[in-house]
Amino acid sequence: MAINSPPQSGTSKAEPIQVHDGQIMLIDQRKIPETLEYFDATALDDMCFAIKEMVVRGAPAIGAAGALGLACEARRLALQATSRHQFYNDLEAANAALQSTRPTAVNLSWDTNLVFGLAQKLRDTDLTLVHIAQKLFDCARSILEGYVTNCRLIGEYGAELVGEKASILTHCNAGALATCGWGTALGVIRAAHLRGCQLTVFVDETRPRQQGSRLTAWELLVDGIEPTLITDTMAGYLMSQRKVDLIVTGADRIAVNGDTANKIGTYTLAVLAQAHSIPMYIAAPLSTIDPALRTGEAIPIEQRDASEVTIINGKKICPPGIKVLNPAFDVTPNRLITAIITEAGILRAPYEESIGQALASRTL
Ligand code: MRU
Repeated sequence: MAINSPPQSGTSKAEPIQVHDGQIMLIDQRKIPETLEYFDATALDDMCFAIKEMVVRGAPAIGAAGALGLACEARRLALQATSRHQFYNDLEAANAALQSTRPTAVNLSWDTNLVFGLAQKLRDTDLTLVHIAQKLFDCARSILEGYVTNCRLIGEYGAELVGEKASILTHCNAGALATCGWGTALGVIRAAHLRGCQLTVFVDETRPRQQGSRLTAWELLVDGIEPTLITDTMAGYLMSQRKVDLIVTGADRIAVNGDTANKIGTYTLAVLAQAHSIPMYIAAPLSTIDPALRTGEAIPIEQRDASEVTIINGKKICPPGIKVLNPAFDVTPNRLITAIITEAGILRAPYEESIGQALASRTL
């Protein structure tokens, strides 16, 4: 259900997920920059819709949204279930429904599994279902809050890599909207800006969903960091003109060897960066690393609807019946990545080692 007015308290333009008395309100990212509208995703079906249709998007944000969606569903089920067995069966189905909405970002399954795993741990305790559901809700809230804390750390570590006067290119939106607040790639840019670095920030459009021109440009302008918008196709030219000092993007899933899936076009930028000897940084929380994947080859790549490519602003821009490909992500091999900036510090090659150590330090 969409509503047009923001909730009464705790609002911030770039706080994409807001919890008010057990109600989950999402900034409707499909509508930015035209309007700031909120979408009520408290009900499971609405949350599944919101993730699939990208009302909420970005790996950490869909992870936290999924976790909250599952916890809200647990609350509803706890009041209705006729048995503990039924509660757990229905909760498992809800977890599967949430995880099936978008396949690439591992945060979604990681975070919903944290909530579901806690439910399983509590199954044979004396706690009532209502109490269990409350604990799941607290767990989901701490996932949400943890992302903001981690993004601040990522920003601080990443800012060390930015010169006093630097020109940065970023892709897609890895900002507050994508991460529950602050941002990964934009967290680095924000932290560098706050340290007084003189920044030129190039934001590419990020066809086909325009996360760069709609969301990143909006976020940076709200913060008073003036971005320069380019089309995706201009990146190589800018690099050849020595206009880019570094590239920083987010990630949706990182294999333990450092291969990184991120928004389609990231690989192109990484190849261009190598050709021009420009550092290519990935900024992501540790929950974006998939400990089950040795390399990026097995990362599932989401294929989205052809209409995202064939229609712009409601207008068809190609001949009818044209064949279309619309992979939403690509995988950048580790050899093209200069470093991965995480809340545990800056990880460099050999990534098996640095990622292994960082994962070992993870508390959740
Ligand atoms: O399809 P989206 O908009 O969900 O894709 C988002 C990205 O690719 C982001 O770069 C990624 O999730 C990192 S967000 C910190």
